[in-house]
Amino acid sequence: MAKNTPAKWTRKDLLGLEDLAAEEITCLLDKADDFFPCATGRAERPAGKPAPQTLKGRTVLNLFCEDSTRTRTSFTLAAERLGARVIQFHAATSSLSKHETLIDTARNIEAMGLDAIVIRHRERGAPHRVAEAIRCAVLNAGDDAHEHPTQALLDMLALRHKLGRLDNLTIAIVGDIRHSRVARSNLYGLTKLGSRAIFVGPPAFLEGLDDITAPVETSTDFDGVLAECDAVMMLRVQFERHEGVAFDLEDYKRGYQLTAKRLARAKEGAIVLHPGPINRGLELADEVADGPQSVILYQVTCGVAVRMAALSLCIGALDRECKAGRRPSGRAKRGRKS
Ligand code: CP
Repeated sequence: MAKNTPAKWTRKDLLGLEDLAAEEITCLLDKADDFFPCATGRAERPAGKPAPQTLKGRTVLNLFCEDSTRTRTSFTLAAERLGARVIQFHAATSSLSKHETLIDTARNIEAMGLDAIVIRHRERGAPHRVAEAIRCAVLNAGDDAHEHPTQALLDMLALRHKLGRLDNLTIAIVGDIRHSRVARSNLYGLTKLGSRAIFVGPPAFLEGLDDITAPVETSTDFDGVLAECDAVMMLRVQFERHEGVAFDLEDYKRGYQLTAKRLARAKEGAIVLHPGPINRGLELADEVADGPQSVILYQVTCGVAVRMAALSLCIGALDRECKAGRRPSGRAKRGRKS
């Protein structure tokens, strides 16, 4: 695993990969590699080791306004394994239901003493707006169909571990591209590091990509692109975002379901990724999801290491800003005078 000289991480927020330099992405991935041996928390295993308690005494808020299994759980485990306390915010039972704004919600909870907010929201740009309004670190856990930076980083870490590099790879990203923040963040990340990402899907799923600021390569011919692929990243069909999208289930399966027969067209040693949750039997056949080329559960393990890296780098950058006087320190302001 080649390690470039990492740029010093200076951002208190991780909002997307669109604005990051290649060196910053590599810095995050290298830091995740440092944490990888303790990412599973199984310190009793020979390969495992206890995580450094670098976030001891810190508080992280998981502010999720959309459902999540992997991202919420792995941010929680990442923060706790570094010694932080994690507060779980549940939108449905919060004062958001009484029309409190997201910014007021974030400011009020920050006033109780926070170091980082991890936010998932259905509105594009919501984490960015929160980051402008508050002092503490903000990490985007997925905003609408815009960005999901830690998902793309964990995908890239899995690719780097399994294929040995992140340049000169060809990766097909297949399925409901139109509604996918995972596809967008991966496109930014992979192309910045010198790989090629091809968006593959039926025409209806390749519309609405005008917001993307990187060059976009698309194909409707899944079978045609497979021979070039080092990896195939399948996406979930996001039925909940499908209002007005023409979609025939059987047509889709015929053209875009990844079966073992179809996967045999890819390069030898090609690996299969999926961010989860999977629609089994729709975008992915069971034989592939659970087959030898699948790295889907390995991605999930990488996610803990990536989120440990993201939390510690962003909180570290925030601390340096406060120390340098560039940002008021909420902790100091909270200090009680005797
Ligand atoms: N991949 C992903 O974001 O999964 P969750 O929605 O379960 O967090």
